[in-house]
Amino acid sequence: MRHFLPWRQGLLTGPKLAEVAMRFDKIIAGGTVVTPGGAQKADIGISGEKIAAIGSNLVAGGNSTHVIDAGGHIVIPGVLDVHVHLALPFCGTVSADDYVTGTRAGARGGVTTLIDFAIPYEGDSLGDAADNWHEKARGKSLIDYTFHICITRWDEHKDQIKGMIERGFSTFKEFMIYESEGWQSDDRALFGTLEKMKEFGTMLLVHAESARVLDELIERHHTLELMEEYGAMLHPMTRPNFIEAEAIQRAVMWSEITGGQLYIVHMSTGEGADIVKDAQMRGVPVLAETCAQYLVLDDSVFEREDGHLFACCPQVKKQKDIQRLWKGMRSGEVSVVSTDTCTFSRKQKAMWEGDFTRIPMGLPGLETLLPILYTHGVRYGRISIEEMCRKLSTNPAQIMGLYPRKGAIQVGADADMAIIHPTHEIKVDPAAMETNADWSPYDGWSLAGFARTTLSRGEVIVNDYKIVGEPGRGQWLPRKTAGLAAVESVSSVNSEI
Ligand code: URP
Ligand code: ZN
Ligand code: ZN
Repeated sequence: MRHFLPWRQGLLTGPKLAEVAMRFDKIIAGGTVVTPGGAQKADIGISGEKIAAIGSNLVAGGNSTHVIDAGGHIVIPGVLDVHVHLALPFCGTVSADDYVTGTRAGARGGVTTLIDFAIPYEGDSLGDAADNWHEKARGKSLIDYTFHICITRWDEHKDQIKGMIERGFSTFKEFMIYESEGWQSDDRALFGTLEKMKEFGTMLLVHAESARVLDELIERHHTLELMEEYGAMLHPMTRPNFIEAEAIQRAVMWSEITGGQLYIVHMSTGEGADIVKDAQMRGVPVLAETCAQYLVLDDSVFEREDGHLFACCPQVKKQKDIQRLWKGMRSGEVSVVSTDTCTFSRKQKAMWEGDFTRIPMGLPGLETLLPILYTHGVRYGRISIEEMCRKLSTNPAQIMGLYPRKGAIQVGADADMAIIHPTHEIKVDPAAMETNADWSPYDGWSLAGFARTTLSRGEVIVNDYKIVGEPGRGQWLPRKTAGLAAVESVSSVNSEI
């Protein structure tokens, strides 16, 4: 039996309760509240932007307190989607969700914080990239946000890392593929960056796919005959599991040698999960995320007539990978679930014209992350509601250096929460969604877990499943540290359930 800690941590005892209650601007009343200590019926008192109290029968301070009825609902911490690309120039086009539509989509799915990737383009410094991304978000974001800083030209960028940390960025990113975009990093860059992460207590995120062998496989399959025969199936056919596994293995090796903190983004294979697990057992400072799509979709989607829509890097894999990733969610080597949102419309995806090397790569995801995890994780009995909140909120907040401000329902934290109905299902219908995508990988799926209400820093931004918050209210979040330096230990984010 888990303890319900807030009363212990939590500052509310007898007579003080009424005093504090008078100052509540809002009370979320009568819901089942998921806190780091477990789920239990409670009220939550909000003062300004912060959670001020968690207790039973909190008293409203007259008419000035807005009482939000959460009876029959579950109150969870706001979701952090720490892998998002908005308005990203990529694959010869620009991804279709920007900071207006992307953050509205997120809010409808209970997401209250996102982390995007600031990527320097030709001649740009790391600082220029951050400035560009600040500009993209300015006046548009409905929810709070920050950026991972992408290092794309090691020799030029290596001496700029310290300055970016001083500007409030604590996570960096390197891609092991995407040479044609000008983003690819080699082993020298990975090694050197991890040394710097060790020096500064910051963390390197890595897109791990093996570039040279992947290029070779693509070249071998890039013929008119094969494209006519296999169409979009060539995308998974040229990316067997070893493409990801070899790259994860190599990145883990550099992390082990340098002691630099490594975070594998969008891990999609069972082999990857095995490598991460083994490395963690040896004490290597490596953590991994997967994305919702790798937990529920397999590569049979590429056999569909519209299979090219599903192309993303890495691509969705096989049933055995799905099972292994769910196991990794329970045993701990998967610490975080994100989306890798990188939305392209049907028209943009049509740019492929039958050539699998020309598909704009990426999927929409912000709006369905929580519903997918809640329905296919909690409701299907694969993980508990507490474990879901760890993977979607507490772990990402801790690992990305945003905890305790974000990531948990506890006194003193930002009042970021989602109120969801335990069983009410909504059919995914792209026409009714906030995303700019005119399709969804989950079209027609019935999912529970859409946010009836979303609060961001105490403000209701989704009410009755509809957006009510204004663009531009979201704030940039400075950070100091990240990774295992920001959490107690791997085991604190890898709890066995
Ligand atoms: O297909 C994807 N994932 N597009 C976004 C870029 C990336 O690799 O994360
Ligand atoms: Zn990637
Ligand atoms: Zn990505």
